[in-house]
Amino acid sequence: MTVRGLIQLAVDQFTDSDTAKLDAQLLLGDVLGRDRTWLMTWDDVDVSEADQHQFQALVARRARGEPIAHILGYREFWGLSFECNASTLIPRPETELLVEKALQLGLPAKARVLDLGTGTGAIALALASEKPDWQITATDFSNEALALARRNQINLGIDNVELVKSDWFSAIQPQRQFHLVVSNPPYVDPGSPYLNKGDVRFEPRSALTAENAGLADIEQIATIAAGYLQPNGWLMVEHGYEQAGPVAEIFRRSGFSAISNHKDLAGWPRVTAGKIA
Ligand SMILES: C[S@@+](CC[C@H](N)C(=O)[O-])C[C@H]1O[C@@H](n2cnc3c(N)ncnc32)[C@H](O)[C@@H]1O
Repeated sequence: MTVRGLIQLAVDQFTDSDTAKLDAQLLLGDVLGRDRTWLMTWDDVDVSEADQHQFQALVARRARGEPIAHILGYREFWGLSFECNASTLIPRPETELLVEKALQLGLPAKARVLDLGTGTGAIALALASEKPDWQITATDFSNEALALARRNQINLGIDNVELVKSDWFSAIQPQRQFHLVVSNPPYVDPGSPYLNKGDVRFEPRSALTAENAGLADIEQIATIAAGYLQPNGWLMVEHGYEQAGPVAEIFRRSGFSAISNHKDLAGWPRVTAGKIA
């Protein structure tokens, strides 16, 4: 069978995916060790029996709903390759907005930054890749997620990130003062129907949901963050597209000013930042 035939065979089975063709190309590309451009250019090439079998096994997993990032074992974020597994969230493209806005804050050359709930290490390691002189502390309460972040740190050759096991701020010494606290915390309402669809079914609830309509963790972080920030330090969080209003209110109540909101490429407000006096 040809490359084109195999892609079509897979697309026909990926009825629940919005990205069926891309999924098929990523899986076949992985089996053949080729990129998408090669697959599109050489779509009439015959694929060996052994590679067809290997591809069909991956297609069967995807057809059952398993995320591409779990099947391949990695996901690209900020142009870097992150190992992924079921211990935490697969890095999302919208989180790149938070990285971009954090880099635009104009922090000092040797800024101290805290990333809460680092998961794969996506935010901390992306920031560190851009700012080798920043001192970044990245936390998670999951041992498995921290081990994953550590492997990603090693694979990416990044040495200015310190990984710490912590339930939000619990293991961060109170005298430490950061220029920036960032977080992409759990923010989905536990009753949301979104949890029964697509990739999120394979991600841990501990990485996704928070009480109080998804706002409980953001509220906890904002309330405590003020005490860990330098004068004029920043807090920046990702949140759901309908949460910009309540998050701004939480920031105000927690003592933040200069509160701004940033929209993702689809035009949804997804990142809120605020400054402490
Ligand atoms: C939405 S995921 C974000 C992961 C990563 N920062 C990213 O943007 O892809 C939230 C992360 O917060 C962690 N987490 C949840 N509750 C936590 C808590 N109380 N303390 C520390 N980390 C927590 C989860 O284990 C998960 O890795």
